[in-house]
Amino acid sequence: MATKLTANVKAGGCASKLSPKILDRALRTVPRMTNENVLVGYDTADDAGVYDLTSVGTPLAIVQTVDFFTPIVDDPCTFGGIAAANALSDVYAMGGKPVTALSLVVFPAKGDIQDLESILRGGAEKIHEAGCVILGGHSISEDEVKFGYAITGLVDPARVLTNANAKPGDVLVFTKCIGTGVISTALKKGITKEEHMDAAIRQMLTLNDRACEAMLAAGANACTDVTGFGLLGHAREMALASNVTLKIAAGKLQFLPGAIEYSRAGAHSGGLNNNRDFVESCVHMSTELPPEIEALLYDPQTSGGLLISLPHGNAERLCYVYPDAYEIGHVTERSIKPIEVIQ
Ligand code: CO
Ligand code: CO
Ligand code: CO
Repeated sequence: MATKLTANVKAGGCASKLSPKILDRALRTVPRMTNENVLVGYDTADDAGVYDLTSVGTPLAIVQTVDFFTPIVDDPCTFGGIAAANALSDVYAMGGKPVTALSLVVFPAKGDIQDLESILRGGAEKIHEAGCVILGGHSISEDEVKFGYAITGLVDPARVLTNANAKPGDVLVFTKCIGTGVISTALKKGITKEEHMDAAIRQMLTLNDRACEAMLAAGANACTDVTGFGLLGHAREMALASNVTLKIAAGKLQFLPGAIEYSRAGAHSGGLNNNRDFVESCVHMSTELPPEIEALLYDPQTSGGLLISLPHGNAERLCYVYPDAYEIGHVTERSIKPIEVIQ
């Protein structure tokens, strides 16, 4: 490989998103389309939408989503796989099963064709692992590499999960560790240890398919995947859509190896600061946290885990069936702020 894939990238992976403040403002001006077949659209700020096909015949809905971003790692094949796992995740977050994919490719005209092939191959292998098939795609020639997929999945319209149904008394469960943003920012600064990068890569390549199956079996009330807006950014969306307060226990959170160290070293992406700027006013801190831990609550995650809200007994069952899952807090009636960070 001639140049490192992340070398010319301003912000890696989901940190390359538009800031939530700008996006929120622009989306508010978009006229709402109403259609009786849309089960989940713009309104709940879920990342995927659901279209009911029952009017066509048997009860069935399609869940559609799109995600693409800049390289977060230097190996092109790994980048392709991570981009695929990340795009598929929004379908799993709604309880769907991905069936078809369209690729979105932005690649420099003078780039190394072998890199492009590796990105596409890494992506295709991950899409196939999900039991999903690539139907086609679209490419643009431009200097900064970007890659991802539009995914279509199927879901039973009676079993769609959104971020809008978290209930007071529920327990909050999360299925991955936090820290991919600071680790990839540290990679760009050249200070990431190889074993830390490897652990982050392993996690980003992990599909949320089994987590999705486990949460459906456990009777989840609400779910979202945690990606570019960070844990508290996505928690905020769930709290607002469900009209509850999410109490998140900082002491229970699990971080990727190295994440705290790089956060302490100031490896904070622009995305992290944008997220904090947008979300902070919705957060009540009832415990004092070291600044490096507090920053991680806003760290943009690439191919992050599922944040699941479910009744107490069901949460224990979920964590037993899917051992990567762990409790991180609980849900109450709306109090002072949509989010409260507790010890
Ligand atoms: Co999402
Ligand atoms: Co997404
Ligand atoms: Co085209």
